[in-house]
Amino acid sequence: MSQTTERILVAESVSRKFLVRQGLFAKKKTLTAVDAASFFLKKGECLGLVGESGCGKSTLGRLSCGLLQPTQGSILFCGTPLPPAGAGSWARGRIQMIFQDPFSSLNPRMTVQDAVAEPLTARGIPRAERIQAAEDMLARVGLKGTGKRYPHEFSGGQRQRIAIARSVMTHPDIIICDEAVSALDASVQAQILNLLKDMQEEFSPAYLFISHDLNIVGFMCQRILVMYLGRLLEEGPTEELFRHPAHPYTEALLAARNGLDASHPPLTGEIPSPLDPPAGCAFHPRCPYRKPLCEETMPPWTELSPGWRVRCHVAQQRVSCSQRSG
Ligand SMILES: Nc1ncnc2c1ncn2[C@@H]1O[C@H](COP(=O)(O)OP(=O)(O)OP(=O)(O)O)[C@@H](O)[C@H]1O
Ligand SMILES: [Mg+2]
Repeated sequence: MSQTTERILVAESVSRKFLVRQGLFAKKKTLTAVDAASFFLKKGECLGLVGESGCGKSTLGRLSCGLLQPTQGSILFCGTPLPPAGAGSWARGRIQMIFQDPFSSLNPRMTVQDAVAEPLTARGIPRAERIQAAEDMLARVGLKGTGKRYPHEFSGGQRQRIAIARSVMTHPDIIICDEAVSALDASVQAQILNLLKDMQEEFSPAYLFISHDLNIVGFMCQRILVMYLGRLLEEGPTEELFRHPAHPYTEALLAARNGLDASHPPLTGEIPSPLDPPAGCAFHPRCPYRKPLCEETMPPWTELSPGWRVRCHVAQQRVSCSQRSG
């Protein structure tokens, strides 16, 4: 497979700005939720997107399925500009989304078999066939014979199973999972993550897997994007990133996860307001390694090895030191 056909989704310098008002009489200000993000998603892979709350993960997820339009830049799906999501889109059914709270995306007055069958409606499949396919899919996700019930009759984990069943009905090329297991207990989380892996084996969608939990992303994803204040700061294979995090922010996120590793300095200080981001590298006010240059100039991307790149003035030197020491 050539590199370009392997890349099913390509974001080219995508930005999304919002006009926000901070008080009743305040002037509107521009908030840059996503700032010139470039990345690609390969067929059938699981790509993680991590970062603290408010850094722009959901906005980038919604841009990646056409629910939001970029203010600048472009998103290509199968080599063609991604159209806005909706009834008339040629990409309809080919990119699906799973949210943190499936209750909000399931119609409370629709039986789950109707909800799961619904993505097939636009394909002109007769209702009886759609319902049968939905029942089969419900059985596949461990909810055999439950199709005539309503969403409120299920637990959080079961509702997420319903959302997963619904999302794979059209055999999509991409599923965007936005904090899909964040609201669940740890034991239910593990079951849902395994179900997502099984679904990927069976139907081969690529996942853009959004999470603030690095343990979960480490379990699910082959590659990871790290985002901070609307900007991507590091991109690389999970193994390299976990072993030798190049960006001080990646390092701090890893230090903050469970099983704290004392060799990495923890993250301190508040996230600056996206309405007034710091000059230079946006992470510099919280960075233990900052130099005067970091306060002035936004670092360019530096490639550390094929597929692993970082935006940091001090990273290269740090990575070669950490690789030498183990
Ligand atoms: N429709 C909108 N109008 C105005 N501002 C918005 C809108 N959507 C998002 N934002 C702002 O954009 C920034 C990024 O938000 P986003 O929801 O993408 O972050 P996130 O990384 O998904 O956060 P979380 O981890 O809490 O889900 C935030 O400052 C948010 O307030
Ligand atoms: Mg979010």
